[in-house]
Amino acid sequence: MTILLTGGAGYIGSHVLFACLAAGHEVVVLDDFSNSSPAAVSRVRELAGGVVTLYRGDVRDGKLLADIFAGHAITAAMHFAGKKAVNESVADPLDYYGVNVGGGMSLMRAMAAAGVFRLVFSSTASVYGERVEMPLTETSPLGEPANPYGRSKMMVERVLTDLCRADPRWSVGVLRYFNPAGAHPSGRIGEDPLGPPSNLIPYAAQVAVGRRPQLLVFGNDYPTPDGTGVRDYIHVMDLAQGHLAALGYLKERTGHHVWNLGTGRGYSVLEVIRGIERVTGQPLPWAVAPRRAGDIAQYWADPSLAGKDLGWRATRGLDDILADHLRWQQQNREGYAG
Ligand code: WQD
Repeated sequence: MTILLTGGAGYIGSHVLFACLAAGHEVVVLDDFSNSSPAAVSRVRELAGGVVTLYRGDVRDGKLLADIFAGHAITAAMHFAGKKAVNESVADPLDYYGVNVGGGMSLMRAMAAAGVFRLVFSSTASVYGERVEMPLTETSPLGEPANPYGRSKMMVERVLTDLCRADPRWSVGVLRYFNPAGAHPSGRIGEDPLGPPSNLIPYAAQVAVGRRPQLLVFGNDYPTPDGTGVRDYIHVMDLAQGHLAALGYLKERTGHHVWNLGTGRGYSVLEVIRGIERVTGQPLPWAVAPRRAGDIAQYWADPSLAGKDLGWRATRGLDDILADHLRWQQQNREGYAG
């Protein structure tokens, strides 16, 4: 089976690329390298072997997509190409809707034209908005995402729902990620955001290796056990396996399907800090700062539907996530450019 991975050089995409190659699939990667590096694809090739063809380009380029589908016997696609920095999305919503919504629709058009109707979409738990009742299930009511990034993902979900209603040939798996973190245990691939990371674990890992002086804890007055934000951190290797499991499920079925990909366990910021200190054996410099706009107190997944439908569950815990993330950061202090 040949699979198209848009954004396959990115953090999630490169780990799914590894899982696909390791499972014996041929892969075509399309990436514009706006927030990723071709080095990630080369390193995955070294790690997994297998056949991967790399195209540099924008998922909104319909002609390029048509050429790719004409040139390869693609039977399914997984869509990662998009922008994901929450604060950036607030500053530049037009770009976020253009890339995330426009790019998603461009891919759907190209797939339909090529007669390819199996799609796994990278969505986010942000679509639940500010919910009180935990854990979150796939039938938890959707809320109002706190920013254009989350709203753009929700818009693509809605387009996919309508597409599946309009055309029964579509077979769509929407994966709502909780908080991806960690890296392949080799330390050869990992998260390499442009500029200062906005997410907790990559930022804290850069503090741990001395690349940044201090971690700021955005608020310790939330209604949580220790007052800091609680999130469901899922290892990117577990997340990648969830994509393969979803692809297998869609092989036998059409229609629109949604799964939460989380561990079912939330950890606070302070618990993450203590975890990093446990793994490194060193104190991590941190200080409390005001809350960050748009943050919510807590969310974590009920991942039982993915367990039931896909036979999938996360197998790696917080210490695995932190040890693997730190190894990547220590071995690649400046990311892929280092
Ligand atoms: C986690 C916790 C912060 C940084 C976002 C997107 C989500 C997904 C993951 C893409 C919160 C606290 C953070 C820091 C801190 N995106 N924090 N200091 O906001 O839950 O989710 O990224 O897949 O869709 O919404 O993740 O890692 O930014 O924050 O105290 O320097 O860490 O307040 O409680 P978030 P995060």
